[in-house]
Parts: sequence; C-alpha cells; structure tokens
Amino acid sequence: MATAEQLKSLIRSHLSGEPERFLAVALRVAAHEAGQGHGALAQDIRKLVDKARLERRGLAQKLPQDIRGLVLSDDPDTPKSALVVPTTLRDRIDRITHEYRQQAKLKSHGLSHRRKIMLIGPPGTGKTMSAQVLAHELRLTLHTIQVDRLVTKFMGETSAKLRQIFDLIQADPGVYLFDEFDAIGGERTLENDVGEMRRVISAFLQFIEQDMSDSIIVAASNSPTLLDRALFRRFDDTLYYELPNEDERKRLIQNVLGAFLAPRFTWKAVLADSNRLSHAEIDLACRDSIKRAILSDEKIVSPAALRKMLKERQSAHNGRRR
Ligand SMILES: Nc1ncnc2c1ncn2[C@@H]1O[C@H](COP(=O)(O)OP(=O)(O)O)[C@@H](O)[C@H]1O
Ligand SMILES: [Mg+2]
Repeated sequence: MATAEQLKSLIRSHLSGEPERFLAVALRVAAHEAGQGHGALAQDIRKLVDKARLERRGLAQKLPQDIRGLVLSDDPDTPKSALVVPTTLRDRIDRITHEYRQQAKLKSHGLSHRRKIMLIGPPGTGKTMSAQVLAHELRLTLHTIQVDRLVTKFMGETSAKLRQIFDLIQADPGVYLFDEFDAIGGERTLENDVGEMRRVISAFLQFIEQDMSDSIIVAASNSPTLLDRALFRRFDDTLYYELPNEDERKRLIQNVLGAFLAPRFTWKAVLADSNRLSHAEIDLACRDSIKRAILSDEKIVSPAALRKMLKERQSAHNGRRR
C-alpha cells in the first residue's frame, strides 16, 4: 500500500488543482509499490500516468498554428551572475526562485508562491534578460508572447487568442513572458478601436486572476504610466528597472570585456562616457570594441578604444531622443 504521506499528497495536489504534481506523486507511489514487490500494480500506475501526460501534452499541441507563431519557445542559458542590477532587485528575483522551489512547503501552510510578476523600466535594462534568468535558474522553458504582434495581427479576436495562450500556460508549465506588454495594458487607447482594447484588457485581467497554473507569468513594460492601474493588483510583485549607476556600469563593463579588459584600466572617463546609456547599449559598445580588437590583432581593449564605441552609442542614443 502507498504510504499515508503519499495518499495525503495525492489528495492535496488533486484538490489544489496541480495535475503535474499529482502525477509526480503517483509515480512515487508506483516506485514504492515496485519496491514492495508489487510489480504489476506499479506498472499499471505508470501506464495511467503516461497516458495522462500524453493527453496533457496533446492539449498544448492542439493550439492553432497561428498562435504557435506568436509564442517563441526557448531554453535560455543565461546565468544569474551576468545580470547587473541593484542588490534590492537581485534579492527580489532570488525570492521568486526561492519561493518557486519551496512551493510545496508554502502550500502546506495555505500560502502560494509569487508567480505573477510585472517588470517595469526603460528599454535595455534587463527585463527580458531577467525572464531568461528565471527560466534558466528554474530549468523551465521560456515562452515569449509578442503582445504587440498579438494585438495587431488579431485585432478583433485578441481576447480569443489570449484565452488560447492561457490554456497553454495551464497545460504546459514554464515561464511565460508577455513582452511589450503596454500594447494591451495601455490606458492610451488606439484610435481605431477603443472598445476592442477595453475588451482585451478586461479579458487579460480575468484570465490572469483565474490562472492557477504551475507556470510563472511575467509581463514586461517600458512605461508604467501607460498601464491600467487595475493591472497591478493582479500581479504578486512589481520589479522596477533603471539605467545603471556608476558602480553598475563598471561591473557590467568588467563582465562583458572579461579577459579583454586592459590591465590598469582607468575608469573615470569611461564611466562619464557611459552615463545615461542603458545596459544593452553599454553591452553593445563593449562587444564592438572587442570585435575591433580582434580584427586588429590586439588582445586587449583600452579605455580610449571603449570610449570611442561608447560615444558612438551616445550619439545614436541622442539621435533617437531628438
Ligand atoms: N541589467 C543587465 N545586466 C546585464 N546585461 C544586461 C542588462 N540589461 C540588459 N543587458 C544586455 O542587453 C541585452 C538586452 O536587454 P533586455 O533584457 O532585452 O532589455 P529589456 O527587456 O529591458 O529591454 C541583454 O541580452 C543583455 O546582453
Ligand atoms: Mg525586452
């Protein structure tokens, strides 16, 4: 017979609507039975689990082709150490992964782990990268939904498409990133169809509220003022991203240049020239200067060489602002 603990786990996971967990416990029961010499019973249980898993996967694959094209799936390889953010933000990210790993413990006390996360901040400060880090840390697949494309492509039927995406979130646990989220979260309404945007927002609010899946849902937005305030309440956490300060710029440059960093590197002018650039822009300037070094058969990047690339990024940046 299964142990009392296993029976209780089975009942708990069923009642809390966690099919994947239920199946995992069922497999533990099968292993236990096999260990007791009840091979036939163990095999019957395994067959039932396999069948259930196949059906669940079928549900995920039944998604229409058009929606598949809007969800990009990937297993990122982005280590947490590459992400340069203030300690407070790093702690918040750690708390998400920690609670995810300890979700059973939390659940046994009637608590749920934080899993609906909003990321806000200027472009190129690490929002998408944070979703990659979460997926990598938790060994989950990252599914990215291009919200702006979803909306323009399916104007008039966006809510129905959203439902299909939330079905996928339920059927196939992973990290789901709604990128460029202001495309639906915006209070600013599109001139051509105000009513449609309202409907889409209320559909999203309803879906995210009802969602009880094992997935982590991340929404990323460049502009907090564009977001409907009702949205924030539906999320367990809101993380704010900012342009890097001096110390962060220095860490970022050290990380990216790595062995290319010239010995006795002087920082003052480099830090001044990287001021007001985003992480992404500094990252690109570093890579440009590494490329230049390689192509001119040099083994290091000097402060002067990096400053040249940073200045290029600054003028591109200012050009965009004008
Ligand atoms: N905080 C950061 N720390 C380290 N690298 C960063 C950071 N933010 C951005 N980058 C670099 O810039 C690239 C693009 O950033 P991304 O995460 O897509 O920005 P966002 O989603 O905020 O617009 C990343 O893949 C990474 O190489
Ligand atoms: Mg992004």
